[in-house]
Amino acid sequence: MVTGVSSAIGAEIAQTILKLGGTVVGTYRSSDSVLLEQLSTQGGFESFHWDVFAEPHFLEGQQAFDAWVHCIGAIHPQPIKYLNKEGSEALFQVNYFSATRMASLLMKQNLLLPKASIVFLSSVSSHYPYRGGAAYASSKAALETFAKALALELSTKQIRVNTLVCGLVRSPMFDASKAPYSAAEIEAMEARYPLGIGTPSDVAKPCAFLLSDYAAWISGAQLLLDGGLMLNV
Ligand SMILES: NC(=O)c1ccc[n+]([C@@H]2O[C@H](COP(=O)([O-])OP(=O)(O)OC[C@H]3O[C@@H](n4cnc5c(N)ncnc54)[C@H](OP(=O)(O)O)[C@@H]3O)[C@@H](O)[C@H]2O)c1
Repeated sequence: MVTGVSSAIGAEIAQTILKLGGTVVGTYRSSDSVLLEQLSTQGGFESFHWDVFAEPHFLEGQQAFDAWVHCIGAIHPQPIKYLNKEGSEALFQVNYFSATRMASLLMKQNLLLPKASIVFLSSVSSHYPYRGGAAYASSKAALETFAKALALELSTKQIRVNTLVCGLVRSPMFDASKAPYSAAEIEAMEARYPLGIGTPSDVAKPCAFLLSDYAAWISGAQLLLDGGLMLNV
């Protein structure tokens, strides 16, 4: 299952799983997504509407999953002085509580197969926050800690939980995060990545590794995907 399959990164992860011969159940919020349309033409792919502010009714009648990748996320930058509900509580709902609620339901409804693999998407900003990103960075930090707690609780079933901690990846989220900056500032930001800004494929391939048996002894880990950004910190 890929929650947030309509995201640039989620769609690429779904494509990668399909290419490797797997099947994907995906969730989306907006149905007018080109990425979703492309996925829907392929065999082995099924999608369901889920806005995280509603119950995930699509879980009814699903068979147990051998993997879950949670790609749902939002940024909504706001300086702390002007933080309102949308900038803090709603953002935590999307970035953090969507994951905790889904994890709890999957466990209660026995929808995770033994030896399943779970992957969460976090951001380097959870370790190195940026101005205006207090709520986003904090929600991702909370998600990273939750992933470790979940890894502990699910280890009795040999279920693994890991987090991909990503630097900037080209996507609508990347475009939105650039909005407050000048062209010169964006250039300087990009120059801090020795291997350049990432692409969805740079995330999807390591994700496929974490889902596979090649990662059978990896749980509770945070894999840094940042094109060498931290070399410059
Ligand atoms: N891009 C980056 O630079 C970057 C860096 C670090 C971490 N990440 C993380 O990687 C993940 C994917 O990022 P991306 O860049 O591919 O994001 P994106 O293209 O902006 O997509 C965001 C996804 O979240 C979904 N979403 C937002 N609000 C929702 C809600 N209320 N209910 C249900 N779904 C909702 C969107 O659904 P719809 O499109 O269907 O509305 C979409 O699938 C996110 O968790 C993000 O925080 C991204």
